[in-house]
Amino acid sequence: MSYLIHPSGSLSYHLRALLWRHRLWAPFHAQVRRWLTDWRPETTHLVLIGPSGGYALTAQFLERFEHITVLEPDPLARWLLRRRFPGVAFAWCESEFLPQAGGFAQLAARFPDAAFLFCNLLGQELQGQAVDFHRGAWLRELEPALAGRAWGSWHDLASTRRKPDQPPHPRQDHAVLLDELLAQCWSGGTLEITDHETAGLCPALPRRYAIWHLAPRSYHLVEWVGAPRPCS
Ligand SMILES: C[S@@+](CC[C@H](N)C(=O)[O-])C[C@H]1O[C@@H](n2cnc3c(N)ncnc32)[C@H](O)[C@@H]1O
Repeated sequence: MSYLIHPSGSLSYHLRALLWRHRLWAPFHAQVRRWLTDWRPETTHLVLIGPSGGYALTAQFLERFEHITVLEPDPLARWLLRRRFPGVAFAWCESEFLPQAGGFAQLAARFPDAAFLFCNLLGQELQGQAVDFHRGAWLRELEPALAGRAWGSWHDLASTRRKPDQPPHPRQDHAVLLDELLAQCWSGGTLEITDHETAGLCPALPRRYAIWHLAPRSYHLVEWVGAPRPCS
């Protein structure tokens, strides 16, 4: 039953979704939809990784694929996903192998024909991660393991209780230092953040940014990175 209290995918996350999905989350989800509209992998098979109840996804996006495999350990999230998209025949796969050394290479090998969509997973605590999990080392394996494959990820860079003073620049041609990004959004004063340790992922790729207002006093700075590169 650990999934019910797990920090990245729990009952409390689904309750938050119930409360805020149509209000606070709506502008961010509109942004995710635009990122996904521009992401055009040339595959008929999509692997969704950590989609939870699919709150950020749309039927229109999912219908672009003939086969959809889901890596999502939370059974309530699976049930919600099926309920939200009754017309989609999801295939399910266990995923505790993913947050291990060689996890991305295994992912690529298990699904040789697929595009991969990491649905705000890379900066979260994950089912299967060891106590000595080192996120930086794990993330450095992503780009070489998925070279030549289509993949996309939106992920938390930092989260804070302080309301941003302005939005981030929506796009950059390559990775930008986290401090620089934070300074774009929060001017002066004290800023306490949780660093999700994802900054600098695949540094040469272009990327996009948005703020996710997760709860009344919780703001996340989120990054989108994808291959193939987004259309400009
Ligand atoms: C922050 S939530 C994702 C939010 C969701 N994409 C949305 O848009 O609302 C992170 C998700 O990752 C899932 N997760 C945790 N460990 C995982 C693993 N090893 N493989 C795949 N998904 C995992 C959790 O169950 C949770 O649903």
